[in-house]
Amino acid sequence: MAIERTLSILKPDALQSGVVGKILTKFEESGLKPVAMRMLQLTQPEAEGFYAVHRERPFFKSLVAYMTSGPVIVQVLEGENAVAKNREVMGATNPANAADGTIRKLFAKSIEANSVHGSDSAENARTEIAYFFSQTELVKYDWARK
Ligand code: CMP
Repeated sequence: MAIERTLSILKPDALQSGVVGKILTKFEESGLKPVAMRMLQLTQPEAEGFYAVHRERPFFKSLVAYMTSGPVIVQVLEGENAVAKNREVMGATNPANAADGTIRKLFAKSIEANSVHGSDSAENARTEIAYFFSQTELVKYDWARK
């Protein structure tokens, strides 16, 4: 299986609920290795640019307002099938439909305040990683999780 990278965002509700550590543990326990991580407050243009693909959707304006309402953590996760694995660990977009034990089932407040974002394809992952990180910010280290 291929080693992939994917972009992950811990959204404002995750930080406000104080569940950052629990969410990062979920990723670690699923074999997703963090290779870049940063906390930031998104500006409106940054959030609009990141979610540009959703520009025509009815929830776009509200989504941008939400994503700029507090700090977020952006990170790059690496591992076998990282894109699909991350989506599995996150659970369905709407927490009401998310499987037991997933991050969104455990922590999300609503379809909008759904705790985490993850790239939906390897191609989008490359674009989304480049949106927040330069190549030199992606670190290399041995990771021997048990
Ligand atoms: P995310 O995976 O970050 O991708 C787009 C985001 O839009 C989504 O998570 C939700 O936070 C938000 N959103 C709000 N309403 C909807 C909706 N009806 N369908 C999909 N995404 C929505």
